[in-house]
Amino acid sequence: MTQEVRGVVSRTKDAPVEIETVIIPDPGPGEAVVRVQACGVCHTDLHYKLGGISDDFPFLLGHEAAGTVESVGAGVTDVKPGDFVVLNWRAVCGQCRACKRGRPWYCFDTHNAAQPMTLADGTPLSPALGIGAFAEATLVAAGQCTKVDPQAAPSVAGLLGCGVMAGIGAAINTGGVGRGDSVAVIGCGGVGAAAVAGARLAGAARIVAVDIDRRKLDTALGLGATHTVDAAERDPVEAVRELTGGFGADVVVEAVGRPETYRQAFYARDLAGTLVLVGVPTPEMTLELPMLDVFGRGGALKSSWYGDCLPSRDFPMLIDLYLQGRLDLGAFVSETIPLEGVEGAFSKMHHGDVLRSVVLL
Ligand code: APR
Ligand code: ZN
Ligand code: ZN
Repeated sequence: MTQEVRGVVSRTKDAPVEIETVIIPDPGPGEAVVRVQACGVCHTDLHYKLGGISDDFPFLLGHEAAGTVESVGAGVTDVKPGDFVVLNWRAVCGQCRACKRGRPWYCFDTHNAAQPMTLADGTPLSPALGIGAFAEATLVAAGQCTKVDPQAAPSVAGLLGCGVMAGIGAAINTGGVGRGDSVAVIGCGGVGAAAVAGARLAGAARIVAVDIDRRKLDTALGLGATHTVDAAERDPVEAVRELTGGFGADVVVEAVGRPETYRQAFYARDLAGTLVLVGVPTPEMTLELPMLDVFGRGGALKSSWYGDCLPSRDFPMLIDLYLQGRLDLGAFVSETIPLEGVEGAFSKMHHGDVLRSVVLL
């Protein structure tokens, strides 16, 4: 039995999103239908709507979600109806070269549901990042469901599905922040603030938060930043060096995605330090750096894609830390909204007024 649910659909480039009836098929082999309880609003949803990711309109938006498994298809054993899960866009194949080499976070063949969800007239929908969770229910590959402790509220659990995991993972998984390290995070929106929280979890001794928005710096302080730098007022490279004994930070996380902040991050790094790019550049961006500086400063220049996370390892762990009071996921939820609030949330996000708006269903 297929079912009809309400979902947030982007029909054409840049037009306001609309609530539409979405038809969800029964789960086929390896698939699961998940009753969505909460879904955060992420920049990537906005980029889909603006046509910046693909031309495969119409999109069913939303991909940062938690919910309860409603039904599963043939061969699904890892999750069962009633399980509380966080959805991920990295259901790894286990077979490709990356998976076989023990680097599944580079998997070339991540799984999504094989059947399409459709509009009432049968038009197939493209689900954002293979999820499509601004809807009362959604169809995903069972591997996209990770069981976590059901004591966690859906509004905070869902955050791990994208931005918060990207930030925490940038610090812990990609940056390899260790006990006693100094860390600088440039850009403290949802992703950068999560990198600050990740650095604290990893035991960093100094965490310098850099932003041009005072509100973001205040949130970063609450999540574990030991120092803040208002980059609208002073040169962040100079400031980070000053706050780290003149050396620069062991790990710098760039969470803006612009050439000038990447350059700042490059120079705010100690010799042999690690630079992690998590802000996503646009196709036309380029950056020129003196080769001698790249050579002479050594260390590592890395990019972090979804925080180099392994959902099955990282989601339950972070939920446990949250439930123990050691990771304040609640700080990322700026507001909760109904499905109808997504268009307005895009505008608040664009103006920097929120870390995350979370749709509650
Ligand atoms: N210097 C420092 N901070 C800056 C600067 C700058 N020159 N310009 C912008 N910022 C800050 C903003 O004030 C904001 O707090 O960067 C932050 C960006 O945060 P958000 O817009 O909330 O975006 P977020 O969801 O955190 O994502 C950041 O990571 O995953 C990627 O696509 C995502 O590229 C985006 C980046
Ligand atoms: Zn693989
Ligand atoms: Zn996202």
